[in-house]
Amino acid sequence: MDSLIRSQRFQKIDGIYLENESGVKTSGAYDSRQKQIYDSRTDSYKEQVQSNYPESCGFNKLLLTYREHLRWVKKLKLKDDDCVLDIGCNIGQLLHLMNYQAKIKGVGVDISIEALQNARLILPENFEFVLCSIEKGLPFEDNAFDVIVCMDVIEHLENPQVVLKEMYRVLKPGGRFLFHVPVTDLFLSLDWFYQKIMPKSFDKKMQDAGHFLEVMKTHNQLQNMILGNGFAITKTRRFNSLLQTMFDYHITHRILNRMFFIWKMPFKFYHFAIAPIIELFILLPDRILQKMNVGSSAYYLGKK
Ligand SMILES: C[S@@+](CC[C@H](N)C(=O)[O-])C[C@H]1O[C@@H](n2cnc3c(N)ncnc32)[C@H](O)[C@@H]1O
Repeated sequence: MDSLIRSQRFQKIDGIYLENESGVKTSGAYDSRQKQIYDSRTDSYKEQVQSNYPESCGFNKLLLTYREHLRWVKKLKLKDDDCVLDIGCNIGQLLHLMNYQAKIKGVGVDISIEALQNARLILPENFEFVLCSIEKGLPFEDNAFDVIVCMDVIEHLENPQVVLKEMYRVLKPGGRFLFHVPVTDLFLSLDWFYQKIMPKSFDKKMQDAGHFLEVMKTHNQLQNMILGNGFAITKTRRFNSLLQTMFDYHITHRILNRMFFIWKMPFKFYHFAIAPIIELFILLPDRILQKMNVGSSAYYLGKK
């Protein structure tokens, strides 16, 4: 790992690489706000780590969104010893899923120390974590990584151009990338209806998630930005169209539990046996909408 890190200033303290002992250096008010939002989720991180990540089962309790992430991760065709950078890794949910695909060497970067401390708990020693604001650049050598993933992070950045340029620099020639990004062109997606019908509640949801419309982009703007930084996109598709969003966030499990109140269905049973059947009915109409360019987010898969 020391050979990947460019700056001498980073030191490993309690299993995490830090730029200085007092915390992370932010680049301005914008990333400071993101740090505040994600550091304040300590209780939720603890709960997720305790309940979601048993040793034996990487797929347990996955939201439908993560099931879709996993389908895209499989397209990266991870190999043993691939060096993978997860930008904005949070508590390491995605690295955890990838660890079931191949014996990768993983590096997770995030601005939230609270998130990284929990990531450190769930991932083994072949994973390293770096606390930094990516708005200030990536503290790694050129051509250091075989794969870069960045899921639900680009929309949080004030200067995504800077970060995309840096991602290009640290990815090896021929290296693969996968991004998932919420977008602002929402027409006919569930979020579009939500915004029209309950604008205040929609704004609150966005703010709580650290999504600020003034810096977010449309699907076309993102594609142009990715291509403009030298990446080749091999596959892109809209996501979070209509039904998927509705059935995510444990809603179906709660509804079914109310219907069959005598037998409390264990969540694990729901996710292994029931959710895949529900997904069959959700995925087909959503796939059609995605082809029609409907969705509140998009995946971008490609190469340097
Ligand atoms: C919505 S979460 C996505 C987490 C994870 N990638 C996933 O898919 O589950 C966004 C993450 O980006 C991180 N983040 C936001 N702004 C950042 C910045 N400037 N530098 C580094 N990380 C940042 C947050 O701390 C948070 O963990």
